[in-house]
Amino acid sequence: MRDLSLHLLDIARNSITANSTDINIIINEDYNIDLLTMTIQDNGIGMDQMTLDKVLDPFFTTRKTRNVGLGLSLLKANCIIAGGNLEIFSTPNVGTSANAVLVLSNIDRPPLGNIAATITCLILSEEEFNLSFTYQYNDLSFSFSTNEIQEILGNDVDIKDWSIINWIESYINENIESLKKA
Ligand SMILES: Nc1ncnc2c1ncn2[C@@H]1O[C@H](COP(=O)(O)OP(=O)(O)OP(=O)(O)O)[C@@H](O)[C@H]1O
Ligand SMILES: [Mg+2]
Repeated sequence: MRDLSLHLLDIARNSITANSTDINIIINEDYNIDLLTMTIQDNGIGMDQMTLDKVLDPFFTTRKTRNVGLGLSLLKANCIIAGGNLEIFSTPNVGTSANAVLVLSNIDRPPLGNIAATITCLILSEEEFNLSFTYQYNDLSFSFSTNEIQEILGNDVDIKDWSIINWIESYINENIESLKKA
């Protein structure tokens, strides 16, 4: 069974392919209501209604290299198996929001997996975009954006430098751990 972090990577890659300049990822683990939600919002090219209607069908894709699009339909299947659902909202030339919901305590829920590795992998993408990331655990949260970090680094240091990427990965892991311990 696939980790949710791998689904996240997949869905956020769709946002990058859609020419987004702003991608917003929000993970919310709320044990008070026993729900895990994962939201990926972008300001990319969006989808018309016809595409949107077909998007959760595993045989639909606009990619040219192979004609089966699996990313969204696989995530939807995993959400439903885990007592939740995947909803997609999209407006052409405005953007798309994919909202995945899963029941935390459901034994069929895939584990979150390595979120920090997924986020740093996205930051290392060739394309230019601002990535905002928020992780909420019950009533606590932490967030950052790549624009914010790049601003702190100034013009001389690239956020994609190996040392910075390593630091971001530890930063995410440490913050997630400390929210869980609080
Ligand atoms: N964020 C998005 N913005 C615009 N279009 C999108 C977005 N996400 C998905 N789509 C559209 O939905 C289609 C299906 O997406 P999905 O991720 O399921 O498959 P894919 O990306 O085509 O292939 P795969 O993910 O299996 O490599 C895409 O081809 C694209 O047309
Ligand atoms: Mg895809």
